[in-house]
Amino acid sequence: MLSKSQARAFFFGGTGVFAIAFLALTYDSMRQLPNQTKAHNITDAVKRGKHIWESNNCMGCHTLFGEGAYYAPELTKVVDRRGKDWMKVFLKDPQAMFPGQRKMVQYHFQPPQIDDVIAFLEWCGQVDLNGFPAKPPLAQKLQATTPTAPGTLLPKPVPAIFTTAACIGCHSIAGEGGAAGALIGAPPLDEVSKRRTREETTAWIRDPQKSKPDTKMPDLVPSVVSEAQLTEIVNYLYSATPKP
Ligand code: HEC
Ligand code: HEC
Repeated sequence: MLSKSQARAFFFGGTGVFAIAFLALTYDSMRQLPNQTKAHNITDAVKRGKHIWESNNCMGCHTLFGEGAYYAPELTKVVDRRGKDWMKVFLKDPQAMFPGQRKMVQYHFQPPQIDDVIAFLEWCGQVDLNGFPAKPPLAQKLQATTPTAPGTLLPKPVPAIFTTAACIGCHSIAGEGGAAGALIGAPPLDEVSKRRTREETTAWIRDPQKSKPDTKMPDLVPSVVSEAQLTEIVNYLYSATPKP
C-alpha cells in the first residue's frame, strides 16, 4: 500500500510524464500538418468550395475524411474516382446521372460554384491520409463487364463530349469507362452500329425515354449534349464499324 506522500508523488509524477509526452506528440503532429495537408495547395477556389460544402450541409449525407453521415458515398477521393468532367455534369443535374435511384440534391449551382466545389474536393483528395480510404473491395466488379481490346473497332480519340456528358461514366468504349453504367445495364458502345441503325441511335440518344419509357439512360439532349454534339457522337459511333 502506498503512503499518502508516495501516492501524491505517483500522481504528480505520472501526470507530468504523460503531459510531456502529450505535448511532444501534439507538437510533432502540428509540425507535420502543413506537409500532409499540402497547405500550399489551398487556393481561393478551395476556400470558396469549402464554404459551399459547409453551408449546404453536404456532410448531412456524405462523409469526407471519414467524418459525416453514411447515406451517400465517401467523397475524399471522388475527383480521382470520377474525374472533373463527370463531376461537372453530375453536380449540374445529379438526378439525370442516376435516374430513379437514390437522390442527390439538385442545388442549382452556377458553373463557377461547381468549379469551386470540385477544387475543394480535389484538394481533399490530395491530403496525405496514410492510405485512407481503403480501395473498395468491389472495385473490380464495377469495371465494364465486356471490355473490348483497345482501339480495335473505333478510332481514337473519342470525342470530348463523351467525357463531358459522362457517356463514358456509364458506357465503356474501346475497353475504357462504364463503371457507373455496369450497375444499371448500360452496354459498351463499340458495336452499337451492328445493333441499331444510325437513325435509331440518334433518336435514342436524343430522347431515350421516348424509345423505352422505363430506361435508366438519362435524357441529356439538349441540356448537356447539343444537337451538333449529338451528330458528332453518332458520326463517331458509325465511323469505324461496318454499316448494319
Ligand atoms: C440528401 C443527401 C445528400 C446531400 C445533402 C448531398 N448529397 Fe451528394 N450524393 C447523395 C447521394 C445519394 C449520392 C449518390 C448518387 C445518387 O445515387 O444520386 C451522391 C453523390 C454525390 C457525388 C458523386 C459521388 C460518386 O462517387 O459518384 C458527389 C461529387 C456529391 N454527391 C457531392 C455533393 C456535394 C458537394 C454536396 C453538398 C453541396 C452534396 N453532395 C450533398 C446525396 C446527397
Ligand atoms: C447514367 C448512365 C448513362 C449515361 C450517362 C449515358 N447512358 Fe447511354 N445507356 C444507358 C443505359 C442503362 C442504356 C441501356 C438502356 C436500356 O436498354 O434501357 C443505354 C443505352 C444507350 C444506347 C443504346 C445501346 C444499344 O446497344 O442499343 C446508346 C447508343 C447510348 N446509350 C448512348 C449514350 C451516349 C452517346 C451517352 C452520352 C451522351 C450516354 N449514352 C450516356 C445509360 C447511360
